[in-house]
Amino acid sequence: MPIKRIAVLTTGGDAPGMNAAIRSVVRCAINQKVEVMGVSRGWWGLINEELKLFNHRSVSGIINQGGTVLKTARCPEFTTEEGRERAFQTIKKHSIDGLIVIGGNGSFTAAHIFYQKYKVPVIGIPASIDNDINGIDLTFGADTAVNTALAAIDNIRDTATSMERIFVVEVMGRDSGYIALAVALGGGCEGVIIPERKFDLQVMCHDIVNGNLKGKVSWIIVVAEGAAKAEDIARKIHEITTLETRAVTLGHIQRGGRPTAFSRDIALKLGHAAVEQILQGKADLAVGLCCGKVISVDFATAIEKKNLEVDSWYKLIKILT
Ligand code: F6P
Repeated sequence: MPIKRIAVLTTGGDAPGMNAAIRSVVRCAINQKVEVMGVSRGWWGLINEELKLFNHRSVSGIINQGGTVLKTARCPEFTTEEGRERAFQTIKKHSIDGLIVIGGNGSFTAAHIFYQKYKVPVIGIPASIDNDINGIDLTFGADTAVNTALAAIDNIRDTATSMERIFVVEVMGRDSGYIALAVALGGGCEGVIIPERKFDLQVMCHDIVNGNLKGKVSWIIVVAEGAAKAEDIARKIHEITTLETRAVTLGHIQRGGRPTAFSRDIALKLGHAAVEQILQGKADLAVGLCCGKVISVDFATAIEKKNLEVDSWYKLIKILT
């Protein structure tokens, strides 16, 4: 059956570059004479029939903006049979032949479940600051988030060095240590704590005290939110080492902001690829960049736990500090 009309939505946590991806999907589809409907607030908009036809101009002036003009939400209703059925009814009612879902791991899991039952062609575009999609190099948004966190770390470094203190900086990542690892490496940080790896605070404190005896006076320890709370780690480090320690939680500032050139580049290329895939009759998969090339990965593979090659990050961070 030829694809005449598709819908696009953004779901889960927003990621810088989502607007660039929406722009790319809308304009690439229109270029192929396919109509596009923009769905508001992710799955919620499908369930509650909040969607409208977009044209070329609907996505003007958004390429440089963080967040998503479609809005996004976490939608517990879509985890229920009833919610998914209502979403399907909206798709039928509006004669939508295919769906492009811009989101992360949770979004693709939901899309995969939806496809299994309703067989509506769904293609995913990996968007998450967490870089949590398996089988591809990088979700768009992650590069911007790392740069945002790195700018903060650089500022913290100035005061840490000047006042000779230890800082524990908490970055985002409930299940993923990607931002923490990238920031620890790029920021020259002395320690990193992530959900994917056990850590030994006693050993870390022992190293700090030893370093201090040799004249080292400041440290930055990065902790991913899913591994521990910065406040707790800072308190314990102070208790064990007696050195002055401060905690900083970067929080949602990492999710916003102007997408970097790299985040936009990925988003725009993948928007194009997603439209091509759907027009070729593909479904139940995500597009993504791998070694600089656009590839596709089955949702079933994409939602598996991503192997971040944690050991090699740790090794390099240790050598360089
Ligand atoms: O989008 C991913 C993410 O930022 C995670 O790193 C974080 O744990 C989570 O979203 C926070 O979600 P929320 O903004 O819904 O609290």
